[in-house]
Amino acid sequence: MKAASTDFATRVVQWQQSQGRNDLPWQNTRDPYRVWLSEIMLQQTQVATVKGYFARFLARCPDVASLAAASQDEVLGLWSGLGYYSRARNLHRCAQQLVELHGGRFPRDAQTLATLPGIGPSTAAAIASLCFSERVAILDANVKRVVTRVQGFDADVAVAANARALWAAASALLPAHGRAEAQMARYTQGMMDLGAMVCTPKKPLCTHCPVQGECVAFKAGEPECYPVRSRKIKRSSQAIWMLWAQTAEGAVWLDRRPVPGVWAGLHCLPLFDSHAALHQTLAPPAQAQLQSESSFIHVLTHKDLHLHPCRVQLSPHTLLGQGRWVSAEEWPGLGLPAPIRKLLERL
Ligand code: ADE
Repeated sequence: MKAASTDFATRVVQWQQSQGRNDLPWQNTRDPYRVWLSEIMLQQTQVATVKGYFARFLARCPDVASLAAASQDEVLGLWSGLGYYSRARNLHRCAQQLVELHGGRFPRDAQTLATLPGIGPSTAAAIASLCFSERVAILDANVKRVVTRVQGFDADVAVAANARALWAAASALLPAHGRAEAQMARYTQGMMDLGAMVCTPKKPLCTHCPVQGECVAFKAGEPECYPVRSRKIKRSSQAIWMLWAQTAEGAVWLDRRPVPGVWAGLHCLPLFDSHAALHQTLAPPAQAQLQSESSFIHVLTHKDLHLHPCRVQLSPHTLLGQGRWVSAEEWPGLGLPAPIRKLLERL
């Protein structure tokens, strides 16, 4: 068992060096700020999309101190279009905590890193192993696939006790203690790369896999059966009416979405549960001018939003409850949900 697991890590490390990804913008650095920022962005977003956002974010906030000092609006603006905005709010809070509690520096171990906002156990392990060579296992969705297949781990990973056992299984594969300093960063990247490039959810490229020889799922001829996940996420749908009010000069009425909830903390058109509720917020002359625009669906992780924009032109003296008129020059710089931004861009 010991010899086999040492072999496994060395194979992953050698494969990463020759076949893995080695020129991504957040690689070839041990700067935890860059590694942290990229890991948070990459949690729910593809590498190709993250590249542009990562560069823009770093140009404006090159380090923990500048991020901590930025306004939340500015941070949400830099995040606008990436989705999952709790990531941006946590990023900002995390930078502030680093300044207030840790002298502006990142703790060097996964356990302490995981106490910070938005840093879960896998992200903490990624930062600690990539930047400080700590011998800890990451377990994001890609790596879960690699580990469950290699080990033939067939328990339901949606069950908490099994999830803990999977961490132990992932830890058993780590480089030997004596090699951690030399191998950990490349091993962690190698596991991510294997999951993304070879050990894919469908049609994995087992003939290209450096650990095919010790993969239980490959031997059984059924890699796609892993990981076993019995609990299905329930999807729901929600209908939303959006009041798209504009002035003749092109200002738009926007308010802030409450926290928690859909698009929490972002600037948004006023939202309503029904057409009647939207209608009622307007005075009779404005009600008569209200125009329904084409409806569309916006897909979130657990929910389909059926969005119904209703447009009206108002005088800038009209007030619509919470919120304010935002000029055509100002709104593009605000943190807006991607579908709202697209709608307003058609303006
Ligand atoms: N996904 C999560 N972390 C990553 C990384 N460091 N490189 C590429 N893809 C990733």
